[in-house]
Amino acid sequence: MAAAVPLLLLPLLLATTAASAASSGGGEKQTHIKLYWHDVVSGPSPTAVQVAHAAVTNTSKTGFGAVVVIDDPLTEGPDLKSSKPLGRAQGTYIAAGKDEVSLMMNMNFVFQAGKYNGSTVAIMGRNAVFNAVREMAVVGGTGVFRMARGYAQARTHTFDLKTGDATVEYNIYIKH
Ligand SMILES: *[C@@H]1O[C@H](CO)[C@@H](O)[C@H](O)[C@H]1NC(C)=O
Ligand SMILES: *[C@@H]1O[C@H](CO)[C@@H](O)[C@H](O)[C@H]1NC(C)=O
Repeated sequence: MAAAVPLLLLPLLLATTAASAASSGGGEKQTHIKLYWHDVVSGPSPTAVQVAHAAVTNTSKTGFGAVVVIDDPLTEGPDLKSSKPLGRAQGTYIAAGKDEVSLMMNMNFVFQAGKYNGSTVAIMGRNAVFNAVREMAVVGGTGVFRMARGYAQARTHTFDLKTGDATVEYNIYIKH
C-alpha cells in the first residue's frame, strides 16, 4: 500500500503529520478566569460612551445602530468600589439587533494586575443581553495568552434600569 502513494504526495503527508503532532503536543494550557465587567454609562465619568447612531436608533426599541466605545473596569468581585481591580475591557459594542436587543461585542480584556498583568484576551461575539447566559468567542490573545482560543460566558449580575449601568459576570475558558 505504501508504495502506491505517489511520491508527490509524500511531503504533504509528512507535513500534515508533523502539524498534528505539534498541536497535540505538551505545553498547551487551559485557563479559566472569572471576573466582573462594569459598564458605567451614567455619572460624571462614564466608561461606556455612545459615539455614533443611526437615524432610527432613537425610535428603535432595541437601540439599533448605536455604536458604543468602552473602557470598562474589570474587577475580581462584583462590587466596583471595593473589589480588586484586574484591568479594563477596551473596545466597542454595537446594537446589531433590529428586533431583539443584541449587541456585537468586540473587545480586549487588558489585564493590569495579578498574574496576567500585561497580557490581553480578545473577545468577539453576539451578546443578547436579556438572555441568562451569552456565549462569545475568545479569538486570540497576547502575552501569556498568545495563540488563545476559547469562549466566554456572560451573565448579568446587576442592571440598573434607571441609570443603565450594568455589572456582568464573565467566565472565560481559554486554551493557550
Ligand atoms: C437622538 O437623541 C439624542 C439625545 O436625546 C439627540 O441628541 C439626537 O439628536 C437624537 N438623534 C436623532 C437622529 O433624532
Ligand atoms: C503591572 O505591570 C506593570 C508593567 O510591568 C507594572 O508597572 C505594574 O505595577 C503592574 N501592576 C500591578 C498591580 O502589579
